[in-house]
Amino acid sequence: MTRKVLITAMACITLLACDNQKKEMKDSSTEQGNVVVETIMNRRSIRSYMPEQVKQEQLDTIIQCAINAPSALNRQSWEVRVIQNADLLNRINASFVEKAKGKKLQGSAARAQEPGFSVFHNAPTLIVVAKDKANPYSAVDCGLLAQNILLSAQSMNIGTCVVGNTASILNDPDSKAFLEEMDIPDTHEVAFGITMGYKNESPDAKPRDINKVQVIK
Ligand SMILES: Cc1cc2nc3c(=O)[nH]c(=O)nc-3n(C[C@H](O)[C@H](O)[C@H](O)COP(=O)(O)O)c2cc1C
Repeated sequence: MTRKVLITAMACITLLACDNQKKEMKDSSTEQGNVVVETIMNRRSIRSYMPEQVKQEQLDTIIQCAINAPSALNRQSWEVRVIQNADLLNRINASFVEKAKGKKLQGSAARAQEPGFSVFHNAPTLIVVAKDKANPYSAVDCGLLAQNILLSAQSMNIGTCVVGNTASILNDPDSKAFLEEMDIPDTHEVAFGITMGYKNESPDAKPRDINKVQVIK
């Protein structure tokens, strides 16, 4: 009788162990069903947005994800401003268009003189990320914060695009008034902006070069 109980118990333990192993294998899978992998692979830069503003509770979640990014010595060296003031965005865009006159710019900025051009892709929200000038890790901190923004937004089907030109506009000495309006301290300089809003396009993925990655064993 005792032997029977022992054999049954051992069989149960073996079955449980096998089940746990299967579960672990499934959890670490990079195939279908892994929400994080799917979110990363489905994110694209969005350059056309619906006019509706991002819902406050979604924005709150995105900002929580942003500030939960790792940072060197947990200094959280970034300064982040969420700009939803259309007038301010229009004035910054107008300043960019003015400065772009006669310049040969790359990417979408090459169309700066076309009517209705917006360096911020007419997004209803722009998140300005500024880095600490005195902290050598701040650029990395800001990059990690940014990726949390892009991916948490994508997980809610909200579109984003990093706009490097935000730095060239706002770090220009003529833009001091904009920095004051945004309450960005002198200790910091703008690293980039992130446009955000509900998507009005679904672009294909751009090619990636796997040869940039080498595995050394
Ligand atoms: C630092 C940085 C600066 C960028 N600046 C701009 C920009 O000024 N305007 C723009 O439309 N896209 C900009 N992008 C978006 C890139 O063009 C885009 O990430 C790249 O082409 C890959 O496409 P994907 O994001 O759809 O995968 C920037 C991206 C990064 C990381």
